[in-house]
Amino acid sequence: MILLTGGTGYIGSHIAVELLQAGHDVAILDNFSNSDETVIERIESITEREVILYRGDVRDTLLLTSIFQSHDIESVIHCAGLKAVGESVKDPLAYYDVNVYGSVTLCYAMQQAGVKQLLFSSSATIYGVNAQPPYTETMARGESSSPYGTSKGMVEKLLEDLSDSDPQWSIAVLRYFNPIGAHPSGLIGELPQGTPNNLMPYISQVAAGLLPELLIYGNDYPTKDGTCVRDYLHVTDLAVGHRMAVAALKKPGVNYFNLGTGSGISVNEMVEAFVSATGMNVPYRFAPRREGDLGAFWACSKKAERELEWRAEKTLEDMMVDTWRWQQFSTKTKRSH
Ligand code: NAD
Ligand code: UFG
Repeated sequence: MILLTGGTGYIGSHIAVELLQAGHDVAILDNFSNSDETVIERIESITEREVILYRGDVRDTLLLTSIFQSHDIESVIHCAGLKAVGESVKDPLAYYDVNVYGSVTLCYAMQQAGVKQLLFSSSATIYGVNAQPPYTETMARGESSSPYGTSKGMVEKLLEDLSDSDPQWSIAVLRYFNPIGAHPSGLIGELPQGTPNNLMPYISQVAAGLLPELLIYGNDYPTKDGTCVRDYLHVTDLAVGHRMAVAALKKPGVNYFNLGTGSGISVNEMVEAFVSATGMNVPYRFAPRREGDLGAFWACSKKAERELEWRAEKTLEDMMVDTWRWQQFSTKTKRSH
């Protein structure tokens, strides 16, 4: 059985579906701080399989101990965490508490239980503000622009120290680029609380008439059309990457993998792709650069291709169509997230 923390969140729910469909048994631990219990029903409805749910906190040692005692857990995928970059600047303690202390607590409980296979949700942000794209796993972690990014880098470092102390640990650190899209069933996806910070949900909420217009932050970057460039990948491809990484979790030590497509797409191109895939109107205007944004970054994705035999397969059009299907479902059912 695999323990999946944060398994009702945006990425975790897609990982749960992918694992269940591949025949794995899955136990989810989530405190629903950014999700809700109906996600479990929807995961079960897509997969026609049952999920074991623990409603609770990843910082709760007693709960973790009892989970490891109750099930034969082979590996853990650790997605639970806080992820809003701007919020982390305003409330850093919450980010170090949940993201760093939460990871320490989880690793302690794993160590006690003798479970030493771990996949960790990291981020391209750890390459820092001065790295030159494409980012490769051999690059050092760089200077972070936010407590969120620092918290991810700290966990990466503590996992290295843990593995140095005990070679039985087998750890994969997965550095996500920009996951977007939703499950093709339209039943699970991302629905941020309040006004979205991220580009894709913002575009789809403008198209749905929930927001008046998109502001494109900056058109004077040294990029192909002046707008920022990112490596957007479909969330179901990202979930497949986790399944492949679990299968490869036999090697001792810490193994780093970028999960991205290997190509950069500009904000203008994203808007054009959405309009062309859905036929919807997305009014936008250019606004000043957003503080803290990097002009352009994308992954070198060759290591995951070589060692995990994983590559992002879905097209930009798939990402847009699936985002829009999910937007329509979530607007209709008025989900808050
Ligand atoms: P999400 O907020 O949708 O999912 C996180 C889940 O963790 C939620 O269901 C939330 O309720 C749960 N959670 C939060 N704190 C918890 C706690 N203390 N105990 C138990 N559960 C808790 O976010 P996501 O987009 O699915 O991200 C998943 C992971 O991937 C996070 O660690 C995030 O930092 C990382 N990541 C996300 C992105 C992205 O663009 N979405 C990019 C890079 C890395
Ligand atoms: N953007 C707009 N208008 C918006 C929202 C975003 O123009 O309303 C632009 C941003 O300026 C940026 C691009 O769209 O150039 C993408 O922005 P996102 O907020 O969607 O994504 P980021 O690359 O800024 O950040 C994301 C995650 C971080 C993670 C990072 C690297 O939110 O948690 O990718 O993985 F650290």
